[in-house]
Amino acid sequence: MENINWSKLTFGYIKTDYNVRMYYREGKWGDLEVSDSEQISLHIAATCLHYGQEAFEGLKAFRGKDGKIRIFRMRENALRMQSSSRGILMAELPIELFEKAVVEVVERNKRFIPPYESGASLYIRPLLIGTSAQVGVNPASEYLFIVFATPVGPYFKLGFRPTPYAILRGYDRAAPHGTGTIKVGGNYAASLVAGEIAHEKGYSAVLYLDSKEKKYIDECGPANFFGIKNNTYLTPQSSSILPSITNKSLMVLAEDMGMKVECRPIAVEELETLEEAGACGTAAVISPILRIDDLDENKSYIFSHDGKPGPICVKLYNKLRAIQYGEEEDPYGWTTILE
Ligand code: PLP
Ligand code: COI
Repeated sequence: MENINWSKLTFGYIKTDYNVRMYYREGKWGDLEVSDSEQISLHIAATCLHYGQEAFEGLKAFRGKDGKIRIFRMRENALRMQSSSRGILMAELPIELFEKAVVEVVERNKRFIPPYESGASLYIRPLLIGTSAQVGVNPASEYLFIVFATPVGPYFKLGFRPTPYAILRGYDRAAPHGTGTIKVGGNYAASLVAGEIAHEKGYSAVLYLDSKEKKYIDECGPANFFGIKNNTYLTPQSSSILPSITNKSLMVLAEDMGMKVECRPIAVEELETLEEAGACGTAAVISPILRIDDLDENKSYIFSHDGKPGPICVKLYNKLRAIQYGEEEDPYGWTTILE
């Protein structure tokens, strides 16, 4: 612990002091349990292992300029986990219990919240799994909710520096009426091969197109896509992308900065007309896009000529970070402050 170099942190796992757990048995949720073990004991026929009954969330806590701790929009994550539960028939966790568990894990691991100056944060990972045995394809009757936390730095190596992304039409992340809109592990398993190919070729992530027609932009690996043109914040509307809480926040910030906001299908060719582009998410924050290489069509779309993020990306990034780190007022009620 004493050896953590906060400003050099990457997006990895570091053991912290405690995690919290809650069990769902006989139709109800039990008490919140605090554990110092990184292990769980699981039935070999648990539905999470065989049939993918697993959903997770990702959110962050920040050490502010004023020394206070701020958790960003945890209610939204609680709601999204409920939506994921409905999507794969898992027990729904009440919002208040989700929030209580998140606050508990942050309080118990305070010494792992990176200092303000480092620009790093505490990543909080809630996880819900089906734990009871089924051999036939059916939902479990018992569930386990876990929340752990780990200090993290930037998700993509260069942080807030533009990096390249690739279009690869040979791979889909999620089907049009599949599980793309919920945060289940299977979506990430489905993205590993394409992600690996992109990484090997030097790209940060795959920019997925819609699975049905391959005409429209979906999302950027583990983050949503946005573009800027004519003072407008543009982001894809799609039935197969995860509704990003960061994206939702950026849409509000953009509007309050006097920009227009459009959430609509974005055809690949429209990339040509964008002045700036970025990937956004809890882990990605805003990761500006340097260039998108369409590897099937042998075409490149360039968004930064000097290797620097564009002015609107900078403005949005600074505003979001200022709210998260308590440098500016939070007029939206997005942060939960722990004294
Ligand atoms: N899209 C995918 C596929 C993700 O995994 C994530 C990360 O959670 C996001 C988008 C961004 O969502 P959020 O801003 O809520 O973290
Ligand atoms: C997040 O941004 O919280 C994510 O979950 C992305 C990735 C680590 C899966």
